[in-house]
Amino acid sequence: MFCRLCHHKEFDSLIDLDTSPLSNGYLTKKDLNKGEMWFPLHAMTCKKCGLTQLDEFERPDAIFNKDYAYYSSQSASFVEHAKNFVEKIQRNYSVTSVIEIASNDGYLLQHFDQRDVDVLGIEPSAGCAMEASVGKGIPTVAAFWNSNLAQQVDPADLIVGNNVLAHVPDLNDFIIGVRTALNPEGIATFEFPYLGDLVNNLQFDTIYHEHFSYFSFAAVCKAFARNDMFVFDVEHIPVHGGSLRIYVTHARNLKYNYKCTGNSRSDRLMLEESNNPIPLSRFSKQVHDYKLKIINHLLEEKICGRKIVIYGAAAKGNTLLNYCGIGKDIIDYAVDTTPAKQGKYLPGSRIPIHHPDILAEDKPDLIWILPWNWKHEIMKKLEFTKEWGADFLVKDGIC
Ligand code: TYD
Repeated sequence: MFCRLCHHKEFDSLIDLDTSPLSNGYLTKKDLNKGEMWFPLHAMTCKKCGLTQLDEFERPDAIFNKDYAYYSSQSASFVEHAKNFVEKIQRNYSVTSVIEIASNDGYLLQHFDQRDVDVLGIEPSAGCAMEASVGKGIPTVAAFWNSNLAQQVDPADLIVGNNVLAHVPDLNDFIIGVRTALNPEGIATFEFPYLGDLVNNLQFDTIYHEHFSYFSFAAVCKAFARNDMFVFDVEHIPVHGGSLRIYVTHARNLKYNYKCTGNSRSDRLMLEESNNPIPLSRFSKQVHDYKLKIINHLLEEKICGRKIVIYGAAAKGNTLLNYCGIGKDIIDYAVDTTPAKQGKYLPGSRIPIHHPDILAEDKPDLIWILPWNWKHEIMKKLEFTKEWGADFLVKDGIC
């Protein structure tokens, strides 16, 4: 294995989660008669540039195809987050044109569109791209972003890429594309789950094959710097359990170069990271202890005769279930609001996925919320389950 950023071949092990099927490989009824491929799930950190990564087992086009079932607009709070971002950008920067990379179903660009900014979405999953262009009227190219595509689009004042960097196998080519399609004084912003939060908050379930890379601030700065771009600001935001939003521009654009003060947000985060290196062996032990604890808890509940179901057929949930070996003998079913997931089965565990309406009829005793990143929104939706006294399990505590 070679580092996807600097091509070095020596790594430290961050966490070895054994093997797992593809987390977004939801199965149809027909698929249940076939086997599934399980791939190694071992996150490693490059000794030279510090990028944490998985080896590549599936090409992105096998993941982000017409069956890709994640629609960002499923979450009202994510749409709200996008709207707040758009308002913030308009307050602070002069932007007349925007390209969003991995624009999904137009959840973000719709807010720029409503404010008469020229928008272009780039989205490889045909279902999401169709929802954006036909459903919301957002011009969307159904393709992967790369340096070739970047030469074919009109350059923009702003390029946005939220929750996409982790999915990119060739990071250098992706960033060259950003550099190519960004106006000389333009800015690009990227949001991505922060490796510091993954480790500190035991978010090992966010490791799955679709996420090729896991970024510290130092590593993401190096990725842009080696491609003549410059990270001039950073915000640590609560999205997805803790993300970074970085602001990037051309290396030669001095307009935003208020670095070197020694006290910018970038400087402070860089210093914090170098003062707190990741405790590798402690992290592995904590993950393993968590596995034993959750298995034990679910078994105790099951042995007492309680009916346990899952809310949210999230990809991260599949890492957790498959790493812990939890399946249909413990969990009756999962529910999810995404129509494309309903009627299918979770990869690996093969737990069936239903529409959430089943909860009111079935009245399960314990509802395990796997997308903990949406727990407030989901628990609000589940208030009606108080009627029969259902308990919630989120991560490792009962609410
Ligand atoms: P998410 O945690 O966003 O992503 P990942 O798959 O990367 O782990 O997945 C959330 C899942 O939960 C998704 O399938 C949609 C579903 N969901 C609901 O069913 N109801 C809700 O209210 C919300 C917020 C999400």
